[in-house]
Amino acid sequence: QDVLPPGYVVRPLAKTDNQVRSNTSFLKTLEVLTTVGNISDEAFQNRFQYLQERNDQYYTIVIEDMNVPATSATSATSSTPYLVTPGRGKIVAAGTVFVERKFIHELGMVGHIEDIAVSADQQGKKLGLRIIQTLMAIGERVGCYKVILDCSEKNVPFYEKCGFERRGVEMSWYV
Ligand code: ACO
Repeated sequence: QDVLPPGYVVRPLAKTDNQVRSNTSFLKTLEVLTTVGNISDEAFQNRFQYLQERNDQYYTIVIEDMNVPATSATSATSSTPYLVTPGRGKIVAAGTVFVERKFIHELGMVGHIEDIAVSADQQGKKLGLRIIQTLMAIGERVGCYKVILDCSEKNVPFYEKCGFERRGVEMSWYV
């Protein structure tokens, strides 16, 4: 029950996960959520570095499908961008838990789950559930007293299956 499909692995986001020319990219995976935009490799690296320097606050994980056959770099042309970097798989899901340090609850910590994404062709294989279970475990391990998230009405049944319950109301102010 608690295992991923064969050949799938969960791991932290890596600095090499920005392969903008291929569909293995972490950023590509996030496009099921919303607009990601045109992010240069340098901009990605800068953001990754920022998160690395705060790696007790930002935990971003991905699921990689290692079953994708490795193709050789020589088969890549500009008209047929290769699907995978040789020796590596394809990122199919991602998620983050952000750990907030509070004063209340005796300097308590709260985990905020953000940006959960499973590639469209990989949904329904329990990858979303695995991402959430992993982020909940991280939140618990680092000492959060609760883990919370905002979602659309449509995703409520998914999060209930993951063990969350409806609580409060989300309010937003868009600048
Ligand atoms: N309605 C009802 N049940 C659902 C739904 C849904 N919309 N989505 C999943 N489930 C159920 C599944 O049927 C499964 O139930 P089961 O255990 O009885 O079989 C269980 O929830 C687990 O489902 P998974 O297979 O793990 O779901 P999946 O891998 O498809 O991931 C997710 C769900 C993350 C919502 C995915 O569909 C996705 O990426 N959607 C687009 C982006 C998105 O909406 N992300 C969440 C934004 S909210 C946030 O980021 C905090």
